[in-house]
Amino acid sequence: MADDAAGTKLGDRMTTGFTIAIDGPAAAGKGTISKAVAAHYGFAHLDTGLLYRAVGARVLIGDDPIEAATTLQPTDLDRDDLRTAEVAQSASKVAVIAEVRAALVDFQRAFARRAGGAVLDGRDIGTVICPNAQVKLYVTASAEIRAKRRFLELTAKGQMTTIDEVLADVKARDDRDMNRAEAPLKPAKDALIIDTSDLSIEEALKVALDEIASQT
Ligand code: C5P
Repeated sequence: MADDAAGTKLGDRMTTGFTIAIDGPAAAGKGTISKAVAAHYGFAHLDTGLLYRAVGARVLIGDDPIEAATTLQPTDLDRDDLRTAEVAQSASKVAVIAEVRAALVDFQRAFARRAGGAVLDGRDIGTVICPNAQVKLYVTASAEIRAKRRFLELTAKGQMTTIDEVLADVKARDDRDMNRAEAPLKPAKDALIIDTSDLSIEEALKVALDEIASQT
């Protein structure tokens, strides 16, 4: 826990829970910002995309999506193939199914309420999962910049792809996530929008921390 003014005030509220909701499209930087914010305040962090990826991965091996979501096990989240482009596409396909989303709500809300504070990142945290979160951020960037970042990430891990393929994947996922009927990706009305297209990680993190400090 940081001992700056915001950290101290947050510390006072740790027993009642303090939730920071961070939403946005793929590869905008929300994962990096979420981890850094959680580390800064000593909060727990949940990457909710992993839940959908775990369901998507089970579907790729032949499971029914609703069955997979309702029987999801901690071991499903431990698989080391959850970060592939194939699993990401499968995740965004299962994420349109209302019953899949419903099966994952309670776990996310319980995580958000934990004493000690929580940072959740995803697509619908500020709008659906935690509409009463004390802080809501919407982290975005142009599709081209996000594709470039994701391309570098994937190739650094040894995955074979091209920038055009990644851009097409990013746009397909944006389209599916933003236009679905259930919990579409959009900023909550009271979210601060952070466009990271022209920001370094440090600059984006500073904007996020300043906003959190201003809400405490
Ligand atoms: O964040 P990540 O890219 O890992 O998410 C994978 C997919 O899971 C997204 O494209 C989206 O379709 C879905 N998702 C969602 N709601 C969340 C988190 C992720 O629909 N809260």
